[in-house]
Amino acid sequence: MREPAVLFVCLGNICRSPMAEGAFRAAAEAAGLRVTIDSAGTAGYHIGEAPDPRAQETARRNGVEIGHLRGRQLVEEDFRRFTHVLVMDHSNLANARAVVPADAISAPQLLLDWVPGREGAAVADPYYGGEEHFEDTWSDVTRAAQALVQALQG
Ligand code: 4NP
Repeated sequence: MREPAVLFVCLGNICRSPMAEGAFRAAAEAAGLRVTIDSAGTAGYHIGEAPDPRAQETARRNGVEIGHLRGRQLVEEDFRRFTHVLVMDHSNLANARAVVPADAISAPQLLLDWVPGREGAAVADPYYGGEEHFEDTWSDVTRAAQALVQALQG
């Protein structure tokens, strides 16, 4: 089987998807899982930028460094490279579907579809919210990361 490659996708690639990338990298390393990991945004507003300071602080408080990550936009080639393209909400899903090429190896899917009982749910956008919203994001992406590591190890 081909080695898994997981891409996390949100709107700006500065809040939710870099947090998901960091949480999943930590969970995969702890489990000894070999996997390619990256994140991207459906929009181009924050290309080249570091994650939002609130996202960095929340990750750091939870023992994960994401300050080195830089924003980039989702491109067609991602659907040829990544076995899993996991989006945060329904708007991301519609935007990502518009980028899928004819020869894609994967289709975009909601991240929380991997968490039993949360199928079909969205990871809420914390950008216009407060600290507690970033902690909620961390909690959601961490639960999904753990479920995903288990599934990929299976
Ligand atoms: P993200 O959050 O999609 O989780 O990275 C956002 C970041 C930036 C914007 C919206 C959401 N923005 O409108 O610039």
